[in-house]
Amino acid sequence: MPDLVIQEEKIIERILTLELVRVTERAAVASARLRGRGDEKAADQAAVDAMRRELNRLPIDGTVVIGEGERDEAPMLFIGERLGTRTGPRVDIAVDPLEGTTLCAKDMPGSIAVMAMAQGGTLLNAPDVYMDKIAIGPGYAPGVVDLDMSAEENVRSLAKAKGVKPGEITVLVLDRPRHDHIIAGIRRAGASVRLITDGDVAGVIFTAQTAQTGVDMYIGTGGAPEGVLAAGALRCVGGQMQGRLILDTEAKRERAFKMGIKDPTKKYDMRELASGDVIVCATGVTDGALLKGVRFGKDVIETETVIYRSVTGTVRRIQAEHREMSKF
Ligand code: FBP
Repeated sequence: MPDLVIQEEKIIERILTLELVRVTERAAVASARLRGRGDEKAADQAAVDAMRRELNRLPIDGTVVIGEGERDEAPMLFIGERLGTRTGPRVDIAVDPLEGTTLCAKDMPGSIAVMAMAQGGTLLNAPDVYMDKIAIGPGYAPGVVDLDMSAEENVRSLAKAKGVKPGEITVLVLDRPRHDHIIAGIRRAGASVRLITDGDVAGVIFTAQTAQTGVDMYIGTGGAPEGVLAAGALRCVGGQMQGRLILDTEAKRERAFKMGIKDPTKKYDMRELASGDVIVCATGVTDGALLKGVRFGKDVIETETVIYRSVTGTVRRIQAEHREMSKF
């Protein structure tokens, strides 16, 4: 049974599932203290520091394989950084300590602290560049949507597969000028566009919760780390996702090559973005459709966290009340 052997090798120690909760909780609380202050860098820094501190307490030999910061020159948990006590299993880490820094700085809905962990060598190791992404929820035959099809074609194909008119399809898109042609294509097909200002990790996850969110598909260009994090969560709840790194300069192609990316135009399936047994953990910073934000009480801090584990498909939601205020 060679497949099983490979599978087992790729299974992460399941105790780590719960350990990650503390990591994103602390990052969320640290940045939530800076909600609405208009200082994105400070909020990001607070989340990064808290995440690094907590990860360094875990019995893992971890390496950040994809992370944020470089593109915005934000304070980052840098790619290649080693984390943990180095006594436990070798694991890959993908981080976005504060996803939606602007949302947090403006105290707008949807910012989260999020990370993923998987067995060493199973998460995409790539520079912090943009990624073209497309995602839909579960229940469709493979290939219904594809990055190589136009937005119009994707809408028509999804509508047909769903057995509805294109007018009944809603596509989530980041509100950016670079998406004007995508938005026009979706509308030409007769579908509806829901725009978000930030936060495409949750945007992709929403496609797997169509009954609650009304979102059928996500299309657009966002951060590559967010792509890996979203792929990990989607692998747990089901759905389809493709991503393609945007390596549009020689310097980016060279960096990617050094990280093992031989084909700069490769279209990755979600199982290639996050293979193996991946755990994705997110805690709300500001209130949002995915998670409630941090609540500061007089003697208690409340957080809400969701954890996805791909090998079992388990999704856990943890509402926590923290009373040891000095720890935060
Ligand atoms: P940050 O937390 O780094 O600000 O990311 C927010 C976000 O909206 C992501 O969800 C998305 O992938 C990316 O930014 C899009 O990049 P840009 O803001 O440069 O268009």
